[in-house]
Amino acid sequence: MPRPNALRRWRWMPVSEAWQQRLATARNERERLQRWRSRRVASHAALDFAGNDYLGLAQDPRVQAAQAEGAKRFGAGAGASHLVSGHLGIHDALEAALAEWTGRERALLFSTGYMANLGVLQALADSHTAIFQDRLNHASLLDGAALSGARSRRYHHRDGQDLARLLARSRATHQLVVSDGVFSMNGDIADIEQLAHLSQQHGAWLMIDDAHGLGVLGENGAGCVAGFNSQQVPILVGTLGKALGTAGAFVAGDAALIEHLIQFARSYVYTTAQPPGIAAATLEALTIVQREPEHRQRLARHIDYFRQQATALGLPLGHSQTPIQPLLLGSEQRTMAWAARCDKHNVQVGAIRPPTVANGEARLRITLSARHTQSDIDRLLDVAATCLHEEPR
Ligand SMILES: Cc1ncc(COP(=O)(O)O)c(C=O)c1O
Repeated sequence: MPRPNALRRWRWMPVSEAWQQRLATARNERERLQRWRSRRVASHAALDFAGNDYLGLAQDPRVQAAQAEGAKRFGAGAGASHLVSGHLGIHDALEAALAEWTGRERALLFSTGYMANLGVLQALADSHTAIFQDRLNHASLLDGAALSGARSRRYHHRDGQDLARLLARSRATHQLVVSDGVFSMNGDIADIEQLAHLSQQHGAWLMIDDAHGLGVLGENGAGCVAGFNSQQVPILVGTLGKALGTAGAFVAGDAALIEHLIQFARSYVYTTAQPPGIAAATLEALTIVQREPEHRQRLARHIDYFRQQATALGLPLGHSQTPIQPLLLGSEQRTMAWAARCDKHNVQVGAIRPPTVANGEARLRITLSARHTQSDIDRLLDVAATCLHEEPR
């Protein structure tokens, strides 16, 4: 045990040169590419077209009250992991409601969507598994596959022929096809029927991460997987921090899958359970999603209106029918210039650049919410039209 005096001296030793050098090199490279990211405290005065609160439930007073009440009744935190003493009745109730909503035998809560994807892939796959991923899958799916040690192949975006070709070539004992439901940077939707068909044909399991479809698409808001059973889509991941307005995630599937995850998914086992207030708020949000289709309908009207007006203005829209409506600007400089102008007008949009998207595919990621009014959308369109017309030709 070093004596206190010795400890005091250690604190003043210079940080290792090698580590300083490492950080500086990484920073210089990012700055050279003009890709250094910065964050800011979000302003409530700004019009938010960047978030994922598609139904406005993060701001719904009923959901907020349920969270406060949940914290009061069950505690501000769960206090332990699910397998120790952190699994509370409110978690159990939420899991049962999520399973029923998605038409699955069981559901299992995770603390975030990122952790759910890491946990599922690490628990299911190993070096004898072949994982097939859409090229535009979310980073958490790519990271989960890397963590599992499985052989990963990426097929062209939404290209069933390319996937079929890769599946036919694979000799792996276990095959897993993995796709976003709604692609987070494009807003387009995976062809679930085709993915399910190809997976079944090759004896592969299909995992769909419907982070951006749940609450928004399908009957009852059950997402792009609504109508597909657990034979067709054995692994369904949903996140709670987007349309449901809270935080966390779940995996839904047959009981055997869920039991396996409880045993082997390290990001489930070795972490504190979701705070009970969040579970209570999510239960309330889920009830609203199921009972009040008007929020989804209002959002659908906003999407139609935005697309119609944006087309008339000549804005570079993508092919999306979901609340994620990218403006495909191509160059990073152009994207940053448009984002800065939006910012000046107090309109917040996502400026998405490589490495999040491929080189030459920078974009403004605009997201619509049932919370917006038509005049909010008009304000956004005005700013975007000014960006278009005032840029150097
Ligand atoms: C498709 C997809 N999956 C998973 C996640 C991660 O979810 P969470 O924010 O709950 O970690 C995201 C978040 O942006 C996402 O877009």
